[in-house]
Amino acid sequence: MPIILGIESSCDDTAAAVLKDGSILSNVIANQQIHEQYGGVVPELAARAHLQNIVPVVDQALAQANIDKKDLHAVAYTLGPGLVGSLLVGNSFAKSLAISLNIPLIEVNHMQAHLLVHFEKDLPQPKFPFLGLTVSGGHTQLVLVEDIDHMKVIGETLDDAVGEAFDKAGKMLGLPYPSGPSIDRLAKKGVARIDFAKPKVSDLDFSFSGLKTSILYHLRAKQKEDSQYIANNLNDLCASVQTTIVSIVIEKLTSAVKQTGITEIALGGGVSANSELRNALMANKEWNVYLPPLSLTTDNAAMIALAGAFKFEKGNFGQLHSHAQSRMSF
Ligand code: KG4
Ligand code: ZN
Repeated sequence: MPIILGIESSCDDTAAAVLKDGSILSNVIANQQIHEQYGGVVPELAARAHLQNIVPVVDQALAQANIDKKDLHAVAYTLGPGLVGSLLVGNSFAKSLAISLNIPLIEVNHMQAHLLVHFEKDLPQPKFPFLGLTVSGGHTQLVLVEDIDHMKVIGETLDDAVGEAFDKAGKMLGLPYPSGPSIDRLAKKGVARIDFAKPKVSDLDFSFSGLKTSILYHLRAKQKEDSQYIANNLNDLCASVQTTIVSIVIEKLTSAVKQTGITEIALGGGVSANSELRNALMANKEWNVYLPPLSLTTDNAAMIALAGAFKFEKGNFGQLHSHAQSRMSF
C-alpha cells in the first residue's frame, strides 16, 4: 500500500499530511491569524502566508510521520475549488516535489475530499449510496454519492455558504473571525428565543442571505432602544442564530432523505464541528449519520491524501499542465 503526501492550500489553512496504508500518520495545519483583523479571508494575504508556511508544514508532516520524502509514492494536492492565489502555492509546490522525487502527482477536488475523509481505515464508513452534506466557509452542498467515482450535487447554496452565515452573523455581533466556533460556545449559555427569517427556497437549494438581513434589521431596531443590546443579549443572540441555521440545514437534509429514500448521511466541512448540528443529527434515530472526528472537519490535508489514495489505486494521475481551479465541478 502506498505512502501518500497530501497538500491542502485552497483557502487560509496551509496543511500537509502523510497517509500510509489508509492510516493517517501525520496531519499538520498552519492557520493564518492575519485575516482576523479584516473579519474575513484576504486572498492576497492568504497566498503570501501559504508561501511562508508550505515548506515548514510539509517538513513537519514528514517528521511527525517519521517518513523520509524518498519513501513517498505520490503527492496528492488540492486542484480546486478555492482561491486561485492560495491554490497556486500548493499546486506549484506539489508539482515541484513530485518532479524532484520522480513520483506521480494526484489532483484532488477539495469538496469531494471533505466526504472521502470518512474512508480513513479506522472510522465507521458510510455505505453506498449515501447523502453527503458539505458545510464549510465557502461551500454548502448536498451530494448524492453513488460510489467513489459517482458523486452528484443535488442541492447547493444560491448565495452565502453556511459557514459564511455563521461568520457574517458573528461579525455583526462583534465576534472575531471565523465566528462559528465562538457562536457555538456562547450559544450553549443562551436561549434561542429570537425568531429570524428563514429562506423560502424551493427544492434542495439553500439560501442564507435573507437570514443575514433579518439579523441586521433586528440588531438595528433593538440598538435604537438599548445601545448595549448586543452585549446584554449576546448568548441568546448566538443561540438564536445557531438554532435558525441548524434548522435550515436539517430541513433541507430531511427533504433530501424524502426525495432519495437514502438514510445514510455523511457530513464534511468546518461547520460539521457545530455541536447543535451534531446533536440534532445524532438524535435522529431513523438516519445513519457519519460525523467526521473534529480534527478532520475543518480544512486538512489528511482528507486530500485519503481522496488521493483512491485515485492512486486506479492509476488516475495528474498532469503538470493542470492549473488551479477556483470553481470545480464533480
Ligand atoms: O471547512 P472549513 O475549515 O474551511 C472552508 O473550506 O471554508 O470551514 C470553515 C468554516 C468557518 O466558516 C467557521 O466559522 C466554520 O467553518 N466553523 C463552525 C464551527 N467550527 C468551524 N461553524 C459553526 N460551529 C462550529 N463549531
Ligand atoms: Zn473546506
